[in-house]
Amino acid sequence: MDAYRLFGPLLRLLPPETAHHLTVRALAHGFGPRGAAPDDPVLATRVFGLNFPNPVGLAAGFDKEAEAYRAMLDLGFGFVEVGSITPRPQPGNPPPRVFRLPEDRAVINRLGFNSGGHAAAAARLVAHRPGAGVVGINLGKNRDSADAAADYARGATVFAGLADYLVVNVSSPNTPGLRALQGPAELTEVLSRVTAAMDKATTGHSPPLLLKIAPDLADRDLEDIAAVVGGQAVDGVIVSNTTVARPPELKGRHRQEAGGLSGRPLFAPSTRVLSKMYRLTAGSVPLVGVGGIASGADAYAKIRAGAALIQLYTALIYQGPALVARIKSGLAARLKADGYRHVADAVGADHR
Ligand SMILES: Cc1cc2nc3c(=O)[nH]c(=O)nc-3n(C[C@H](O)[C@H](O)[C@H](O)COP(=O)(O)O)c2cc1C
Repeated sequence: MDAYRLFGPLLRLLPPETAHHLTVRALAHGFGPRGAAPDDPVLATRVFGLNFPNPVGLAAGFDKEAEAYRAMLDLGFGFVEVGSITPRPQPGNPPPRVFRLPEDRAVINRLGFNSGGHAAAAARLVAHRPGAGVVGINLGKNRDSADAAADYARGATVFAGLADYLVVNVSSPNTPGLRALQGPAELTEVLSRVTAAMDKATTGHSPPLLLKIAPDLADRDLEDIAAVVGGQAVDGVIVSNTTVARPPELKGRHRQEAGGLSGRPLFAPSTRVLSKMYRLTAGSVPLVGVGGIASGADAYAKIRAGAALIQLYTALIYQGPALVARIKSGLAARLKADGYRHVADAVGADHR
């Protein structure tokens, strides 16, 4: 019997941040599940020049400090995104700042980039070797920083040589002013300074650069972002972060807490934005679909809507580690039933 079946229900009795902290500590000390079965070849894929054994990734926010990425790759994730990491250490918002909405299979968080800072994460990531699984680094900015672009550029300098890919996260709802960086002028400035910093740090062998966007953007904003992405050296777009919207059907008693909502209620809105971004970029930029994925069917729907890769976090809180194998087998079965030999062939299928 896997340990989660024993400890999972106990973890859910603890405050969410305490449960998370204990989980990451246990994983960091080698108490994670081991021996994931080899992936079905139908799931193997190559995206922005990287090889993935399967397209199911762990979203940013679980392993903010680069402590548990090895254990999460061993669990069977096809890739892990560490972060968000801010340049200097900062505490984030005062607790309580993570809330479960079990009736909605959702979470609201207003962590506000609690981070140990670049240096601490970088010291742990030097152990990561190329070819030992895909590890992306998600970059944030310090709350009190006056020059956001400089924070992201510093992240690019520190992590360009350590990460398999980098993410500019301008979509978390809990840092004042952050999402305004999604505007065309601000975004162009951030991305061009990050690209320049990466080029300088790596003498030409820069890792792929991804942008992570919010689900709460109007069509006009999405058009602007697609135009900036087309004109800059952006290799992929992650759609999406958490939402500040509160769908009227939410039942959880914490539904009015401030912060970003993730999990099942985010599935439909984030998939709509994913679909729009796929149409706007005409399939020319790989997209990462994230938001409310809790089953193989959800993963397949994101892929058909335009995602070359997918990520999840909140469903893991409710379903535990066995979810990863369940999603992969459900996805593989659906791909085969529809006659696909490679997951890449199904990307954007709903648009054809
Ligand atoms: C507790 C928590 C912390 C998060 N922290 C981050 C973060 O630091 N950076 C980031 O880009 N996204 C962060 N996210 C957002 C997730 O990466 C993901 O985009 C979002 O939760 C939607 O996926 P899900 O519905 O599968 O959870 C966080 C989400 C949660 C629930």
